[in-house]
Amino acid sequence: MDKIVISGGNKLSGEVTISGAKNAAVAIIPAVVLSDGVCRIENIPNISDITLIGKILTDLGAQVKMVNKNTLEIDPRRIVSPVASGELMRRMRASCYLLGTLLGKFSHAVVSLPGGCNFGVRPIDQHLKGFVALGAKYKLDGGMVHVSCDKLRGNNIYMDVVSVGATVNIMLAAVKAEGLTVIENAAKEPHIVDLANFLNCMGADICGAGTDVIKIRGVKHLHGTTYSIIPDQIEAGTYLAAATATGGSITINNVIPKHLESITAKLEEMGAVLEENGDSIKLRRDGPLNKCNVKTMPYPGFPTDMQPQITTLLSMASGTSIVNEAVWDNRFRYVEELKRMGAQISVDGKIAVVEGVKSLKGAPVKATDLRAGAALIIAGLAAEGVTVIDDISHIERGYENVVEKFIGLGADIKKSTCEEQVETKAAAL
Ligand code: EPU
Repeated sequence: MDKIVISGGNKLSGEVTISGAKNAAVAIIPAVVLSDGVCRIENIPNISDITLIGKILTDLGAQVKMVNKNTLEIDPRRIVSPVASGELMRRMRASCYLLGTLLGKFSHAVVSLPGGCNFGVRPIDQHLKGFVALGAKYKLDGGMVHVSCDKLRGNNIYMDVVSVGATVNIMLAAVKAEGLTVIENAAKEPHIVDLANFLNCMGADICGAGTDVIKIRGVKHLHGTTYSIIPDQIEAGTYLAAATATGGSITINNVIPKHLESITAKLEEMGAVLEENGDSIKLRRDGPLNKCNVKTMPYPGFPTDMQPQITTLLSMASGTSIVNEAVWDNRFRYVEELKRMGAQISVDGKIAVVEGVKSLKGAPVKATDLRAGAALIIAGLAAEGVTVIDDISHIERGYENVVEKFIGLGADIKKSTCEEQVETKAAAL
């Protein structure tokens, strides 16, 4: 299996351009299914989750053309079946967005139950509750979700938990439903706003995205459009955290600083100095790394998708920090890997107590999921000695050119492919 090999200790310096937001792209691309024309989507991150969703749409009958590495043109007009099944569907969480989009298009959807990162139970009860409120019936059968109705009709839907996925799916199903749908206690993440903006560019009538009440007035048709995806705030936060960990000084370009406020506030508390300039942020850390406490929350709170990266920083800070993972039940699996590198962290359910150590030591470790992998890269960059990260396909799901981008910032990091590993072993014999 491919690995990432890092010789730690280099302070990051220089500039890096942030790619388009993964979690916006994986909602917007399935949304194209609802269009009556061709959509051109720009600033798409070139990552394996996008390749996968492109293949899923192609299997459904869409024509998906890669105009360049960050632009797709999708013609959904040949999609004639509401059935999206198979192994590809089970590999990613966002495949469940085809439930909302196929239901919106055909009043019927049959979709494999979704996969994605494993951090505990990942229910879809709120998605289904939304579809039922719009007039659909559902059944779960043999690993598939079947949802159907005669006609979708707008309704008031109060979400029991704040869910990104359920908010997206209900928006997708409601956008062509008859009448007004009101989603209360909706998720407010930037990618929800981006999806609403994209749907509105196709002719939808959605307002309130970014607040906890979203109003969707159904329209009969959606047309093709050209749209550029927002920058990825989690990728941006990951590079800022890495520079903070190494005591470096970097500039990240192509970001929306407002989307990063909860992250930059914590990095400042930990001793980083930040300066915003339009769509760039400069960060440097010269002084000590301070402890702090973190609780993850839906946006605008501190994002769970930055929790492993910030915990890694805290494992090298002076003093004891408490990290409370309030979104997912089981998102501390990577802690065992950090402990191999000398971190002192004890986990009790959703709370981690992090005793800062002076430095981490390089070790062989495994990426247990996407953000866990990002956290291990940060640990490896700051550690003494060599870190070898296995199972890096998780990281490639969500970070475009991660190795090249860190090399550009002065890191000693490389990808070691299976072929190279076989050749090295053969040469040693
Ligand atoms: N939940 C329910 N019922 C539901 C849906 C969710 O109880 O029907 C609960 C979940 O168990 C969880 C909480 O609500 O405790 C939040 O889940 P949410 O639905 O918001 O998560 P998601 O849509 O499955 C997206 C991101 C995740 C990110 C979460 C939280 C995508 C494709 N995934 O997942 O991103 O952690 O929101 O912000 O947008 C990542 O990028 O690394 C990643 C895992």
